[in-house]
Order: sequence, then structure tokens, then C-alpha cells
Amino acid sequence: MITLALPKGRLYEKTSELLSQCGYTLTLGDRQLVAQEPRGELQAILVKNADLPTYVHHGIAGLGICGSDVIFESGYDFFHLMTFPFGKTRICLAGRRDDTQDHRTASSLTVASKFTRFSHDFFHRRGIPVDVIKLDGSVELAPVLGLAPYIVDLVETGSTLKAHDLEIKEILGETAVHLVANPAFYKYHYQTVDALVHRLHEAL
Ligand code: PRP
Repeated sequence: MITLALPKGRLYEKTSELLSQCGYTLTLGDRQLVAQEPRGELQAILVKNADLPTYVHHGIAGLGICGSDVIFESGYDFFHLMTFPFGKTRICLAGRRDDTQDHRTASSLTVASKFTRFSHDFFHRRGIPVDVIKLDGSVELAPVLGLAPYIVDLVETGSTLKAHDLEIKEILGETAVHLVANPAFYKYHYQTVDALVHRLHEAL
């Protein structure tokens, strides 16, 4: 049986719908975090987005469906199996709409973000010293309340930024949703995994 880690939240609905189109119908009871499909070929565990790479890295789940942003933050290396057409987003530097300073000419930056590794890496490559204040959510509050002038965060529709009088100052990168495997798991189960990947491709 393959154990697949799925992220809680907005990606769950899309991925479980796709799996059911492939014939893997997962039923999760109220508050349940482990689901098996009736044929016993696949078991899904529902985990917090940021914890997903940890489960795959330790082999608790052989496979996982996860955003490239979260994979990068984890620092773990996985075997990449496929990229999904849904869930693509932009990772952006954002700040207050009324802040007209050009961040590109700043001698250093302070940003609040969930994506500390990405932020350090990005501005280090640009040669700008950056102080990253780690937050786990509701990052948009930081520039509003004065914790940091900028945030590095995902922007999908832009409505969260708009609601807080914030704007994109620069698009720093694109993120996508991937199916990844624990390398050791893939080595021993590649035939079963490749069959699953084939079914997923056909359903897209
Ligand atoms: C994400 C992201 C932004 C928001 C962007 O947060 O961190 O806050 O979505 O989406 P939008 O551009 O469509 O408004 P999420 O909903 O995952 O919650 P969080 O604040 O707990 O991270």
C-alpha cells in the first residue's frame, strides 16, 4: 500500500477530487486524518502543509503532494514525479501602498515571512542584507501594525493584500504543486508509483 501525504487546506479538495477521478476514492470521517480507499491500494494522511515534507523525508509517507515553496523551506531533497496544473502562485515582496520607497535601492531590508529560507536566499543572491522576522500566518498584519515594512508571501488573487492596503512591490518567484517521493521509497516501489503517476496524468 502507498501512503500519500496530502496538505490540509485549499489544496486538499483539488487533490482528493483528482484522486477520485483516478479511481482512488478516499473517505475521511469528521476530524479524521487518515483515509484509506476501499481497494487498500492507497492510504492518505492529512497533514499541515509545513509538516508534509517531514513525513515524506522520514518515510512515514512514501509520497506527498506539496507546493515548491514548502519543499524549499524544508531543505529536504525529494524525487520529483510530476507537477500539477492547479495551485500555481506567485511569491512576492509586498508592502504598504502609501510607502513609495524603492526597495531595490535600499541598503538593507526587513521582511516578515513564513518563507525565511527563501527570503534569505533571494536577497542574499541579490547582495542585499535582509532581516527576516518569522511568522506562521496572517503575515499581512506585519506592515499594517509596523512589525516590518515588507512581507514575502504568496499572492494568489491579491485580495488579502488589497484588504490591508498593501501592494505587490516585486514578484520574486513562481510556485507550483508537485508530487514528490521519498527517494528510498521510490527505489523499491517505482513500478507501483509509476502506475499511479500514469493514472494521475491521464486524469488531468
Ligand atoms: C495565503 C497567503 C496569503 C493569502 C494570499 O494565506 O499567505 O495570506 O493566502 O491569497 P490571496 O492573494 O488569494 O488573497 P493562507 O490562506 O494560506 O493563510 P495564512 O495567512 O494562515 O498563511
